[in-house]
Amino acid sequence: MDTDFNSAVLFPGLVVIGGFSFLFYFLKFSWKVWWGVRVYVLSEYWKTDLRKYGQWAVVTGATAGIGRAYANELAKRGLDILLVSRSEEKLHTVAMEIERLYGRKTCVIQADFTEGHAIYPAIAEGLHNLDIGILVNNVGMNYAGELRYFLDIANPEQRITEVINCNILSVTQMTRLVLPHMVEKGKGLIINVSSEAASQPQPMLTLYCATKIFVTYFSRCLNSEYSSQGVTVQCVAPCLVSTNMTRNLTVTNFMKSAPDYAREALNTVGHSSHTSGCLSHALQHIALTIFFPGWLRLSSFCVRQMEKISHRKLQKTTGTLH
Ligand SMILES: NC(=O)c1ccc[n+]([C@@H]2O[C@H](COP(=O)([O-])OP(=O)(O)OC[C@H]3O[C@@H](n4cnc5c(N)ncnc54)[C@H](OP(=O)(O)O)[C@@H]3O)[C@@H](O)[C@H]2O)c1
Repeated sequence: MDTDFNSAVLFPGLVVIGGFSFLFYFLKFSWKVWWGVRVYVLSEYWKTDLRKYGQWAVVTGATAGIGRAYANELAKRGLDILLVSRSEEKLHTVAMEIERLYGRKTCVIQADFTEGHAIYPAIAEGLHNLDIGILVNNVGMNYAGELRYFLDIANPEQRITEVINCNILSVTQMTRLVLPHMVEKGKGLIINVSSEAASQPQPMLTLYCATKIFVTYFSRCLNSEYSSQGVTVQCVAPCLVSTNMTRNLTVTNFMKSAPDYAREALNTVGHSSHTSGCLSHALQHIALTIFFPGWLRLSSFCVRQMEKISHRKLQKTTGTLH
């Protein structure tokens, strides 16, 4: 009786379940591969015309690193650029470079995003009457420049507020300023620069990675709310890019140069609303998720290793280790 049941019902049942499972995972894998090829490879040849969003692009933190690279690349693709950053002198240098290289119009607004709410009325005035099609919320800072315990941040009372103002408040307030015009026009693009550090909790970068997961969730939710009204909100999460923040480390296959990163990340517009920005970083993201998962990063073993690395770095900088 049992043997009859096994051969008549159980085995064929298991074969059907196994077949469906295999098909499900095969289709899921194929879809992910196709999606990756489309976003990171085909996008090079299948670019969105960014001029369709409007005449002007606003870039925060536009005088160096990724922000400067975005500003240049957007100008190259035919947009006029409004640069927002804290140093008036650097702003004019970058603006003149853009006008000379790409023949686009530029405007500058000097603002220090660590200062909080007080700066936004002046920024709003600077944006008034401009047809803003694209906003790149790029400005961001780390609190120590290296791995640190939360309590070891220098001047914590001031620094914590500065990081939150710069990494979180800037994104929400700049969005509030440009979004109504975009909704009214029925088109617009907001690019928010998060970080790979947000994809998993990252001890010893606690405040930084927490501000970046805010940027990720803010972007993804906002995209859901406004995509039906023609406004795309894209979250970009780079791994390592050679900039002042990463002490201009040598460019390699893993460590992108800022101009290459911005060019490739802009290609992904219209293909993905949440992206690592380039193929190399997407592959690093997959590898890190598999081989360095959240539970391992959060383990006390890992924190101790990071503490050692940080200690060694500090000794090297102060010259006590050779
Ligand atoms: N580099 C990476 O590997 C990496 C990885 C993941 C995510 N990110 C994110 O990418 C974004 C850009 O980083 P980055 O590496 O390009 O940084 P960066 O090289 O340090 O450049 C930052 C830019 O923002 C400006 N800025 C800094 N603090 C400011 C403030 N308080 N008010 C106004 N402007 C300010 C800087 O102006 P000054 O020239 O005056 O300093 C500069 O133009 C950040 O949000 C960062 O979190 C970077």
